[in-house]
Amino acid sequence: MGQLKSMPGPQARRASGAGRRIYEHLRAQMAEGILGVGARVPSTRALAAELGVSRTTVSAAYDQLAAEGFIVTTPGRATRVAAVAASAAIADRTRPRRAAGHRSAELSAFGRRVQAMRLAAMPPAEHLPFDFLYGAVGARDFPSVTWRRAYLAALWEAQPRLYYAPPEGDEALRRALSGYLWRARGLRCLPEQIVVVNGSQQAIDLCARVLLDADDAFVFEEPGYSMARSCFEATGAQGLNVPVDEHGLTTRRLPGDQRIRLAYVTPSHQFPMGGTLPIARRQELLAWARRQRAWVVEDDYDGEFRYGQHPIDALASLDTDGRVIYVGTFSKALSPQLRLGYLVLPTELQEPFQKAKRLTDRHAPVLEQRTLAALIDSGAYERHVRRMRREYERRREALLRAIARELPQGTEILGAAAGLHVVMRLPLAGLGAELELITAARRRGVAVYPLSTSFATEVRRSPSRGVAFVLGYASLSSTQIVEGVRLLGEAVRELSGSVLD
Ligand SMILES: Cc1ncc(COP(=O)(O)O)c(C=O)c1O
Repeated sequence: MGQLKSMPGPQARRASGAGRRIYEHLRAQMAEGILGVGARVPSTRALAAELGVSRTTVSAAYDQLAAEGFIVTTPGRATRVAAVAASAAIADRTRPRRAAGHRSAELSAFGRRVQAMRLAAMPPAEHLPFDFLYGAVGARDFPSVTWRRAYLAALWEAQPRLYYAPPEGDEALRRALSGYLWRARGLRCLPEQIVVVNGSQQAIDLCARVLLDADDAFVFEEPGYSMARSCFEATGAQGLNVPVDEHGLTTRRLPGDQRIRLAYVTPSHQFPMGGTLPIARRQELLAWARRQRAWVVEDDYDGEFRYGQHPIDALASLDTDGRVIYVGTFSKALSPQLRLGYLVLPTELQEPFQKAKRLTDRHAPVLEQRTLAALIDSGAYERHVRRMRREYERRREALLRAIARELPQGTEILGAAAGLHVVMRLPLAGLGAELELITAARRRGVAVYPLSTSFATEVRRSPSRGVAFVLGYASLSSTQIVEGVRLLGEAVRELSGSVLD
């Protein structure tokens, strides 16, 4: 049998798809040139005997190869590999292509930029018991019973047929949202201005693609939300970083560059530092946008969660000349896995955004949208948000008290007035301290994530600034938070000899 020495082994004979495996094996041999053009293919009888399968099985594989033009069978003569076989033979797509650099040469400019990006790593799959992962919420906090009831009702609602829904989103949800935004965020808008999207990430991506070109520039908070920055950078536009302080964006430092087409801001609770943009700066930002003829993308990702005070109205509620694009999400109040969010658009942007959404993925999932609409209309959504606000307030208190008790003097907490995370700066010095603490904490079952990844510039590397972490506490119970911080305190003490200031 010479060339076919590595045919499927005895286990393949028992496999139900033996014919398919013979077919694939022969095609792979053609692809690799082991069976070259014109080469003789074993007879069905010989191959069946060698493999211990029926001749019918081998014949079926040969018939398929012949039908596709890979082999030529002539009655009474040997079967041979056809002339076109080698060039058209099966591609093994699991193997990397040989020529180095070949792939990037084939990508678009956008594709090359995306490929070259260093996106934040996904957290390790191994789940530690005390994981201060920002962006996660507690699975047990999801209102499963209410959701299931509303979802089933949406499922059973009679539809004459199943067809694509409007790209801007379900009408009932857009109506419900326009009422909700007025009650909760002081934002007046018409349902027509809303486009429902698959999470804020898609909203931001649509803003990038609809509003930016490669020669443009955009203003970005420093530090800021890197998943948004990457979307804008992927267009080829240049990011102009404006520093944030404890109140958010330092609006007096907004640049006057004529290339600027938009600014991305998180005014309710700056991500990650946690400042709330004061009214004077809000007005300064809007006046700047007017002068620059720039759009302002307001990412209101956790605006519902403010502690001790009433949530502050959205920046978009002050916008009198249609410059602000408001972005909201259900990732914090319900679940990031829902992938549901929305844009509230100035009138002239409605059409391009609806069309871009349609080209991207037609529309957001219909049943989930209707479920959400029912939850908002019945008041269940707002009850859930109120309950979670009280709950998060308790967890936040537990966190702050534990930090005060367990971590060294001089530990600083930023941005605790709102949201589901705080920034904690420790009085640790040395460039290696961040990694050392992460490793020491991990050994104790505690996961913490550095602030440094939210900076675009290298300023973050300065050892004199101390080591800072973004602590998300929404997915942990108060008990887990207290124990997690105690163990973190132990890890800090372990390092303290070498790195404490
Ligand atoms: C600043 C910011 N914007 C938006 C989001 C939510 O994104 P999405 O709605 O795509 O889940 C997050 C979540 O972590 C965030 O931190």
